Amino acid sequence: MKYYSHYIGVCLLMGFAYPAIAGMQENLDTCYSCHGKDGASTDKDIPIIGGYSAIYITDSMKAYSNKERPCEKVEIRSGPHKGDKKDMCEIAKNLSEADTKEIADHLASEPFVRAKQSFDPDKAAAGKKIHNRQCKKCHEDGGSSPDDDAGILAGQHMEYIQEQMEDYVAGKRPMPEKMQPKIEKLDKTDLENLTHYYGSFQ
Ligand code: HEC
Ligand code: HEC
Repeated sequence: MKYYSHYIGVCLLMGFAYPAIAGMQENLDTCYSCHGKDGASTDKDIPIIGGYSAIYITDSMKAYSNKERPCEKVEIRSGPHKGDKKDMCEIAKNLSEADTKEIADHLASEPFVRAKQSFDPDKAAAGKKIHNRQCKKCHEDGGSSPDDDAGILAGQHMEYIQEQMEDYVAGKRPMPEKMQPKIEKLDKTDLENLTHYYGSFQ
C-alpha cells in the first residue's frame, strides 16, 4: 500500500496519469486468467509460474516471442475473456521489454504453490535415481530451486512436465547443449518415472 501511494504520488508529480499501474495489474490479470491467481495454476495443462526466477520468466517470454518454443492455442480459463483462445507466442510478443520485466519481477516474488496430484511411489523412486544421476547438477533439490534459472520441476503439473520432455526429445523445444545428451539417452519409461518423481513433491 505504502509503495503504491508513493508511486502514484511520484507519477502525479511527474505528470503521468496512473494507468501505468492499472497497466501492470491488467497485464498480470491476463496471466492469471490462464495461470491462476498469482501464477499458482490448478489446471494440469498450464504450468505454475508464480515463484519462478525473474530471469527464467523473461528468457521464456523471449523464446515465445521469437517463436522458439511451441505455443499451442489454449482456452482462457477465467475472467472477461474466458473461452477465447490465445497462445504464449502472441501474448509474449505483445508485451514491451519493460512490462515483461515488471511482470517477471512480480511473479518471482510470489510463492510456488505445488500441485496436488496423484503419483506412483515406485515410479517416483525410480525417477529420483535418474534425476540424481543426470539432472541434479542443473536442477538442484529435485528441481525445486528457482535460483537454477531452469524452471521449477518439483511440484509442477505432471502433464505439463511430461509434454515438455517429449517436446525436448522430439526436438520441438530448444534446450541447453549439456542437457540434450542426458535427455536424449532416456526412454519412455525413464521419462514417465521422472515425471512421477517431480509430481511426488507436494
Ligand atoms: C491463454 C492462456 C495463457 C495466458 C493468458 C498466459 N499463458 Fe503463459 N502459458 C500458457 C500455456 C498453455 C503454457 C505452456 C505452453 C507450452 O507448452 O510451452 C504457458 C507457459 C508459460 C511460461 C513457461 C513456463 C515454463 O515452465 O517454462 C511462462 C513463463 C508463462 N507462460 C508466462 C506467462 C505470463 C507472464 C503471462 C501473462 C503476461 C501468461 N503466461 C499468459 C497459457 C497462457
Ligand atoms: C546442463 C544443465 C542441465 C541439465 C544436466 C539438465 N537440465 Fe533441464 N534445464 C536446464 C535449463 C537451463 C533449463 C531451462 C531451459 C530454457 O530456458 O528453455 C531446463 C529446463 C528443463 C525442463 C523444462 C522446465 C519448464 O518449466 O518448462 C525440464 C522438464 C527439464 N529441464 C528436465 C530435465 C531432466 C529430466 C534432466 C535430466 C535427465 C535435465 N533437465 C538435465 C538445464 C539442465
